[in-house]
Amino acid sequence: MKNEFKYIIHNNGDTSRKDPSKAKEMFPMERAWDARRFHRQIPNYHMTPLAALPNLSQLLGVGGIYVKDESLRLHMSSFKVMGGSYAVYRLVKQLLGKEDEDLSYEYLLSKECHDALGDVVFCSATDGNHGRGLAWACQKLNHPCKIYVHSETSQPRIDAIKRFGAEVTVVQGNYDDAVRQAAADAEKNGWYVVSDTSWEGYEEIPTWIMQGYTSILLEAQEQFSGMGIVKPTHVIVQAGVGALAAAVVGFYSALFPNDPPLFIVAEPDQAACIYESIAAGDGKCHTVEGDLATIMAGLACGEPSPIAFDILKNNADIFIQAPDNVAARGMRILGCPLHGDPIVISGESGALPLGTLFALCTDEIDEELKNVLKLDENSQIFMINTEGNTDPIEFRRILWDGKNPVPTRFQIQE
Ligand SMILES: Cc1ncc(COP(=O)(O)O)c(C=O)c1O
Repeated sequence: MKNEFKYIIHNNGDTSRKDPSKAKEMFPMERAWDARRFHRQIPNYHMTPLAALPNLSQLLGVGGIYVKDESLRLHMSSFKVMGGSYAVYRLVKQLLGKEDEDLSYEYLLSKECHDALGDVVFCSATDGNHGRGLAWACQKLNHPCKIYVHSETSQPRIDAIKRFGAEVTVVQGNYDDAVRQAAADAEKNGWYVVSDTSWEGYEEIPTWIMQGYTSILLEAQEQFSGMGIVKPTHVIVQAGVGALAAAVVGFYSALFPNDPPLFIVAEPDQAACIYESIAAGDGKCHTVEGDLATIMAGLACGEPSPIAFDILKNNADIFIQAPDNVAARGMRILGCPLHGDPIVISGESGALPLGTLFALCTDEIDEELKNVLKLDENSQIFMINTEGNTDPIEFRRILWDGKNPVPTRFQIQE
């Protein structure tokens, strides 16, 4: 059955039009190692698993599917904490004039550090996960934190942020309105904005956040080499403002500039701002208006992060926008896997890449897309489960009650 997602083969699949130069600048290996050095000092830090799904791979006719399971990250159920915490670390170093020094986690907690810093307040807008990660980092390091959410943010997500001691402000409007309100209030009050999205004149901190994410990819590469795999052949990554996707695409483009994996960027069809910006074809960011109604709360962003978009437009291969049922099916496949494959608890935004891969392998897709994808028994496919059960009521609705069902025409046939 003809697929119901929309796709763009970027630059008509002409890989000679890729340009990894910015990726190399933004994601040098030493930055990833610096982030890793910092993260490893956090109490209870462990590598998250790289879950292999051999039986699903066989069913879909591909060589391997590997899911980096960030639902298990530092008991935070999301990868986001890796960016927020590293950005706070870099900002503290900058405020102290110690940018060239390695500050220990212990020092960040010390009275000496707090006295030197004086009163600092950190602030950000969020769709839930980044705010929770930043609130957690601030609580650990004993700094006040103000988080702005939009009016559609679910109560469990708000409560989860408050649990880490942050003050939460609800802004009428969507995620992008919350971003603007947080920036305006921070300006008025002298707070430091630690935002995962960038805008003109505000790029340094979002860059640190993306660099913080690359610590996850260093782990993955270490885990791949333990399996005898040099690099994945395909990467499917989900995008909200595009910071995670740019970190993943940028990291691999910088590491393997001559032979990068094939990069597929997936978004919800109701909030496909990266897709629409690529579709516009003018190299600029474009906004998707409206209430961005999707179950993928973490991906419900209407404005790309410009610095992230720059990396994506120069290096990613395929852009996809998919309906909610694709992510919902991904959640069910991961949570109730084929016998022998590990269970991966995945929330709506976390499961989009797996749902997308499943659709790519089982729907009837155009020949031109098939030819660029080249999914076969040699394909080693990498993706990140970016969140676990972060909204327990929605999670039960989808997994137990069958909310967002697969349309009949795409269901398993006899
Ligand atoms: C669970 C989850 N996955 C993916 C993303 C996408 O990250 P980005 O906004 O950097 O594209 C987010 C963003 O909040 C998220 O919460």
